Amino acid sequence: TRQYRITLLPGDGIGPEILAVTVDILKLVGTQLDIDFQFQEALIGGVAIDETGKPLPDETLEICRSSDAVLLAAIGGYKWDNLPREQRPETGLLAIRAGLNLFANLRPATILPQLIDASSLKPEIVEGVDIMVVRELTGGIYFGEPKGIFETETGEKRGVNTMAYTESEIDRIAKVAFEAAQKRSGKLCSVDKANVLDVSQLWRDRVTLMGKKYPDVELSHLYVDNAAMQLVREPKQFDTIVTGNLFGDILSDAAAMLTGSIGMLPSASLGLEKPGLFEPVHGSAPDIAGQDKANPLAQVLSAAMMLRYGLNEPKAATKLEKAVLEALAQGYRTGDIMSQGMKAVGCKAMGEVLLRILES
Ligand code: NAD
Ligand code: IPM
Ligand code: MN
Repeated sequence: TRQYRITLLPGDGIGPEILAVTVDILKLVGTQLDIDFQFQEALIGGVAIDETGKPLPDETLEICRSSDAVLLAAIGGYKWDNLPREQRPETGLLAIRAGLNLFANLRPATILPQLIDASSLKPEIVEGVDIMVVRELTGGIYFGEPKGIFETETGEKRGVNTMAYTESEIDRIAKVAFEAAQKRSGKLCSVDKANVLDVSQLWRDRVTLMGKKYPDVELSHLYVDNAAMQLVREPKQFDTIVTGNLFGDILSDAAAMLTGSIGMLPSASLGLEKPGLFEPVHGSAPDIAGQDKANPLAQVLSAAMMLRYGLNEPKAATKLEKAVLEALAQGYRTGDIMSQGMKAVGCKAMGEVLLRILES
């Protein structure tokens, strides 16, 4: 029996709903493959603010540090949107990424043949799309100093954030991206705004330099505005994309929609050491929270990424991924991916379908 300590962070909104479904599935696969998952729940986001006054209590970070992997659902909601910055759910999420040094965020966007009709683009445009966005996660404008709202000499307020990257920050994310590209089709596109931003010029220079060490990877560069356009124009031109924190946030939501719904997209946040953190790309979806409408598949696929990249349990990961494909092939759809003639299910029922498939 292999034993793993998994920290569960259900968070807010649909978070607890999609995580509950996922944990049941992990338990079943654990029994089947002789893996002993030891789950421990901890607080982050709005629920943590309500209970402790802080979006990331010290205790949560401690529990995460002592575990083999962290499975996060989502944080945030209207209720906390007007609190001071340091007490916002989002600040807790940034703090856990920084606290665990998770500088590399892998966000795959794969078009599943079963879901071609759920995409808002034409089938021939999205068919076969398989993109890996490698997003820098602990630097850039999310973390740069100075930041804040300051008063100017004339007494008006001035909001400031700073986009900054050091060479070493660029190098370590570039290395992750080149290695990812090597394992995939060997094509890497670096996205920046080097025509305007100095921080992007340094990014481009360092990525180009690193490229010399990877002659087998075909490196290209795009400006972020063009990249956004190309993603919807002809997504098949992309394989691996590497970009900074903010551009990666935006482009990965756009890439998500190619696949039909943001409710399908998982992600892995990795550092140089354990634990990694695994979370859907989407947020807490407050508009549908508590209604059993959420698509749990991004969370289930995030658990698959945890098994593959965080725990080195590829067999279990494949089991989860296959179950998801099979549920879709059998026609089960939550509202976000619903199309004509398919079987409408809620979050819980989708979970039950997956359990039934795994048991058969
Ligand atoms: P969102 O991703 O939560 O929702 C965007 C839209 O997609 C909504 O219409 C929502 O209903 C839908 N959606 C998202 N996930 C879905 C799922 N699994 N199934 C079906 N539909 C789904 O983004 P938002 O509305 O901009 O943000 C809501 C809150 O979530 C904010 O507080 C934001 O800061 C937070 N957020 C958190 C994370 C995270 O925890 N990693 C990520 C993004 C946003
Ligand atoms: C994401 C989210 C977060 C981000 C927010 C909630 C801090 O949008 O995980 O994509 O911008 O990184
Ligand atoms: Mn985002």
